[in-house]
Amino acid sequence: MTLEGQFQAKIDAEVKIEPKDWMPDAYRKTLIRQIAQHAHSEIVGMLPEGNWITRAPSLRRKMVLLAKVQDEAGHGLYLYSAAETLGVEREDLIEELHEGKAKYSSIFNYPSLTWADMGAIGWLVDGAAIMNQVPLCRCSYGPYARAMVRICKEESFHQRQGFEIMLTLAQGSEAQKRMAQDALNRWWWPSLMMFGPHDKDSPHTEQSMKWHIKRLTNDELRQRFVDATAPQAAFLGLTIPDPDLKWNEEKGQYDFGAINWDEFWEVVKGNGPCNRQRLQARVKAHEAGAWVRDAAMAYAEKRSAREEVMNKQDARVA
Ligand code: 3HC
Repeated sequence: MTLEGQFQAKIDAEVKIEPKDWMPDAYRKTLIRQIAQHAHSEIVGMLPEGNWITRAPSLRRKMVLLAKVQDEAGHGLYLYSAAETLGVEREDLIEELHEGKAKYSSIFNYPSLTWADMGAIGWLVDGAAIMNQVPLCRCSYGPYARAMVRICKEESFHQRQGFEIMLTLAQGSEAQKRMAQDALNRWWWPSLMMFGPHDKDSPHTEQSMKWHIKRLTNDELRQRFVDATAPQAAFLGLTIPDPDLKWNEEKGQYDFGAINWDEFWEVVKGNGPCNRQRLQARVKAHEAGAWVRDAAMAYAEKRSAREEVMNKQDARVA
């Protein structure tokens, strides 16, 4: 049996692929592509919410939002580490992002205009992320699957805190309810776009399914998200901005309207409302944090030099 044949047999037998295992170059390449984009999404994803930490309406809301944003940073670092197990350098991935050569989730290129956006992002964006990331816990690549287990636990908290903000506003004054509805209006369709193009237009889905990187297709995950979220919007007393959304008894799913793929691809190409602002903020933060990286590297070098001296001394004594 060829190496490819043995590899696919392991995949089909649900044996995890580990960093030191043989793998087709194309498998490695698509994992680096997806994991790097995922990591970039987590890091850039901090920006829309970071914008509201100093303006949270209470100390409790500020603490919860701060904790969530810190989680996202950790998710990004986790995922860069998973990408590094495939032989790439984190610095190179970050440089590609800063030079506008790397993708990250389209959703983070929309502005967070009101406090209700913190609710809509947690409820819808993290809700969509959970829908997409839970199956990734069963991804064939070991480090990625294991990273997802830890990340999904924290995403659940993210989604719940967002829904709680929406519930508080939806049960508040008329002005608060209007703010919640406005946020739902602006975040609903971009959240559906997070799942990627329709399966028929996706160049990667078929192969990623065969390799058990993806366990459900873009459209299957999107449908699950709509089916789970539509009743939540009804519970909130808010209206999803899609006149074609209706329950299809026969299918046991919701039918919903057409996504604006022209908007999606414009945002992916870098022409979204906040693309330039997001990359500028990332570059500025990276440059401002250079001294921390330099100090950590200097400490690590000093420590390893000291350990080398001590090892030599031990060798002489032994
Ligand atoms: N935004 C930007 N680009 C997107 C996209 C999106 N929402 N959806 C798809 N694309 C890009 C793909 O990267 C691909 O471009 P490439 O070939 O240059 O890489 C192209 O559009 C075709 O799309 P495919 O569906 O064929 O590509 P994939 O098979 O990679 O599927 C995906 C796209 C479903 C996003 C998949 O990559 C995936 O599941 N990634 C892991 C999860 C992830 O990255 N989620 C992003 C959000 S993370 C998040 O929300 C954090 C939370 O804490 C808030």
